[in-house]
Amino acid sequence: MKKILSTLGLLILISVALLGCRAKKETTQSKTSSSQASSSVKVANSSSQSTSQSSIEESTAPSSASTQASYNGSYYSVQGKYGEVIIVNKKHPLSSSYAPGEDPTAVAAFWQLVSAMQEIGYSVSNNYSGFRSYETQSGLYNNYVASDGQASADRYSARPGYSEHQTGLAFDLTDTSGALLTEYNASQWLIQNAHHYGFVVRYLDGKESITGYMAESWHIRYIGQEATDIYNSGLTLEEYYGVPGGGYVE
Ligand code: DAL
Ligand code: ZN
Repeated sequence: MKKILSTLGLLILISVALLGCRAKKETTQSKTSSSQASSSVKVANSSSQSTSQSSIEESTAPSSASTQASYNGSYYSVQGKYGEVIIVNKKHPLSSSYAPGEDPTAVAAFWQLVSAMQEIGYSVSNNYSGFRSYETQSGLYNNYVASDGQASADRYSARPGYSEHQTGLAFDLTDTSGALLTEYNASQWLIQNAHHYGFVVRYLDGKESITGYMAESWHIRYIGQEATDIYNSGLTLEEYYGVPGGGYVE
C-alpha cells in the first residue's frame, strides 16, 4: 500500500511537472503535503560513495573545468566544516542516473521553515517544487528553450544534469496564489532567516556571473549547519567553497 502511494505520488509529481510549465521561469510541481512519497529514498548527502574517485573522475566527470571539488561518479562535492557538501552548478553537473529522491533531512527542515513563515503571516503555500529527476528537468528545460530560446532559458533553468533539484536538496517556495515566491518582505525574511533552518537562498541578485543564474527569491538549497557560516560570510556557495561557477563549459 505504501509502495502504491509512493508510486502514485511520484506519477502525480512528474505529470504536474511536465504539464505545469508556465510562462515565467521555473515551474512548480504541486506537492501538497506529499512528502510521504519520498519515504523510501536514500539520504542524498551521505558520505558513503568515496571509492576510487580519481579514476571515476577521469572517465565520467562531465565537466572539463578544473575544480577542487571531487567527483564520485554521481556528483561533485567538497568537504565542508561539518561534512560533505554537494556542489551543483554549470561547472559541476550530476550523473544523469543520480536520482536520490527528496532528502528526508532537508524536507523536514523545509517544513519547519514553511511553518515559521506561515506563522508570521507570509503568503507561503504548502505546494513546492523539490526533487526533480534528470528526465523531469530535461522536459522543463526543453520547453523553456522552445518557448524562450536557449540563451534566455539558460539564465533561469538548468540543463538536465545541472539542476540542484536533482539532488533532492533544493526547494522552490510558492505563494498561496500558486506563483513562485517573490513577495518582497517574504523574500527578505527568507534571505535573512533561511540559514536558521539549514538553507541558503542560492541565487541572489547581482550574482549571476558567479552562480550562473538570475536571482531566484524562491529557491533554497539545504546545506545543514554550515548554512549559517555561509550566510554570515555574505558569499555565494561558489565563493565560500572556492569552486568555479558562472557559465557552462562550452
Ligand atoms: N531554476 C534553477 C536554476 C534550476 O532549474 O535548477
Ligand atoms: Zn529551484
